[in-house]
Amino acid sequence: MIKIAPSILSADFANLERDIKKVSSADYLHVDVMDGAFVPNITIGVPVVKSIRKCTDMFLDVHMMVEKPARYVEAFAKAGADLLSVHLEADHPTRIAEALRLMGECGVKKAVALRPITKAEAVLPYLEQLDMVLVMTVEPGFGGQAFMEEQLDVIRRVRALIEKYNPACELEVDGGISPKTAPLVTEAGANVLVAGSAVYGAADIPGAIQALRT
Ligand code: DX5
Ligand code: ZN
Repeated sequence: MIKIAPSILSADFANLERDIKKVSSADYLHVDVMDGAFVPNITIGVPVVKSIRKCTDMFLDVHMMVEKPARYVEAFAKAGADLLSVHLEADHPTRIAEALRLMGECGVKKAVALRPITKAEAVLPYLEQLDMVLVMTVEPGFGGQAFMEEQLDVIRRVRALIEKYNPACELEVDGGISPKTAPLVTEAGANVLVAGSAVYGAADIPGAIQALRT
């Protein structure tokens, strides 16, 4: 089954509760945390995740675009995240392993994320313990960018590795997902689709979510 994860990066932050309710027919709520160091933009931090947790029961999929993410795993877990994804490029492999260990200790689901420059095989040391792999289909940092078609090959490779080593693991894609690109990524093996502008930019939001599922 294809799952849709609207990204609140495209919501109105002054009306976040209202905008979260608008996407309640989706499967996950995608929360983009950016630290101004791993990516040039600064967005949401721990206190905001804590407030979001109070106003929705949706599954909170927290995408940490943060340097040295192990430092913040416990705080985001306590704030109410259901799943955390850490970028493989954000620290040394031993510290990424430590971030995943902390997620296990805190009882949140575990994911690793790949920038477009990173090869699919980079997930291999972690794959057997993961709940999800996130393949970026834009350079992380901003909503509304154009889909990078060359990432379809990375999605296919990650899907093949998942089938071989951990078939229960989900494969999420993020960036430039629209009714036009959704069939390409699902065909390549993605089963969770993040969408910011395609959802929040639509006049009919439940309709836009439904359109991405097909
Ligand atoms: C980008 C973020 C995305 C972003 C996607 O760095 O990780 O989640 O919100 O936005 P769209 O769907 O507009 O490309
Ligand atoms: Zn994201």
